[in-house]
Amino acid sequence: MGTPPQGKQFTILGTGVSLPDKVLTNADLERMVETTAEWITDRTGIQERRIAEPDVSTSVLGAQALRNACDAAGLRPDELDAIIVATSTPDTLFPSTACWVQRRLEVRGMAAFDVNAGCSGWLYALEIASNLLAGGHSKTIGIVGAEVMSKVVDWTDRSTCVLFGDGAGATVIRAAREGDPPAGLLSANWGADGNLAPILYQPAGGTQKPATRATVEGNEHTVHMEGKEVFHRAVRAMASAATRALKSARVTTDEIKLLIPHQANTRIMRATCERSGIPAEKLYSVVHRYGNISAASIPVALHDALTEGRIERGDLVVLTAFGTGLTWGAGVLRY
Ligand SMILES: CC(C)(COP(=O)(O)OP(=O)(O)OC[C@H]1O[C@@H](n2cnc3c(N)ncnc32)[C@H](O)[C@@H]1OP(=O)(O)O)[C@@H](O)C(=O)NCCC(=O)NCCS
Repeated sequence: MGTPPQGKQFTILGTGVSLPDKVLTNADLERMVETTAEWITDRTGIQERRIAEPDVSTSVLGAQALRNACDAAGLRPDELDAIIVATSTPDTLFPSTACWVQRRLEVRGMAAFDVNAGCSGWLYALEIASNLLAGGHSKTIGIVGAEVMSKVVDWTDRSTCVLFGDGAGATVIRAAREGDPPAGLLSANWGADGNLAPILYQPAGGTQKPATRATVEGNEHTVHMEGKEVFHRAVRAMASAATRALKSARVTTDEIKLLIPHQANTRIMRATCERSGIPAEKLYSVVHRYGNISAASIPVALHDALTEGRIERGDLVVLTAFGTGLTWGAGVLRY
């Protein structure tokens, strides 16, 4: 397809994760709700997920993942020019979880803010960060995806509680310097359809429906989801965003090394692969071991793919996501 466009040039200096030690298996869930391990594996591909301890909030996991990413990058957290945290399960409604991450890392001064775009959040944050670097506003940015979904899941609702897990992934990126090999986002593509907000949301706790005894008793502070509707829209959104990103990067599916989609469900990921014409063997999945960790899923999968040597410098990777909103986003990344 010719020479790909340069896109937004940056280098991924390091990645890191933080995953709670506690593992919740499908067999454990059989004892909690009316389900079977087989149903969960067949319908979702998930075998186990990590669950945070009661005193662990999103910023605890986010800060640890970012510290690990900084260590891998060979720099200190106080050398970052900005910290962006993508999350749907913030520590508090205000301030942002990014500010709590700063506090935990004992750093100050750099910009810190959250991106609330559900499971697409980390990709949104990457797009924002690459523009901040391209605009010269920052040189080095820490992008975190962190979630404690277990604290907003209704543990009596078998159709949602089996899906989610907790964890954080972080990536440190640096603006391209002269002489750096080409790397960064060749193209990016993002969007949202807020008309679909009610198909996946947490009804209470915000200004639409502030917390009251009735909202707590009515279980309205938990994930409400129309599973089938989300499923179909997810496949369409992720596949078309990936296809558009490939087209504007002028890259063919043959040229890409891996597809790393948002890790919601094996069937959604496979259907996305098929619909966007990407060979199934290029699909990278970790959903069996972590479940759906929302905004943390892509940075955790990216970290694992790098750790396993599945991606090398110069390789092209397609990232694609969808989430509450509904939001979607995709990008072609040259590592
Ligand atoms: C949730 C999901 C796995 C359900 O799979 P599905 O094939 O659509 O299943 P259905 O919704 O048709 O449900 C079929 C039956 O299984 C039942 N069921 C739901 N969860 C179950 C569970 N954990 N164990 C056993 N049965 C279950 C349903 O109650 C339903 O029973 P019914 O036919 O008697 O009403 C699927 O819709 C999905 O993955 N949706 C997208 C969710 C997602 O990714 N959300 C995050 C977005 S970021």
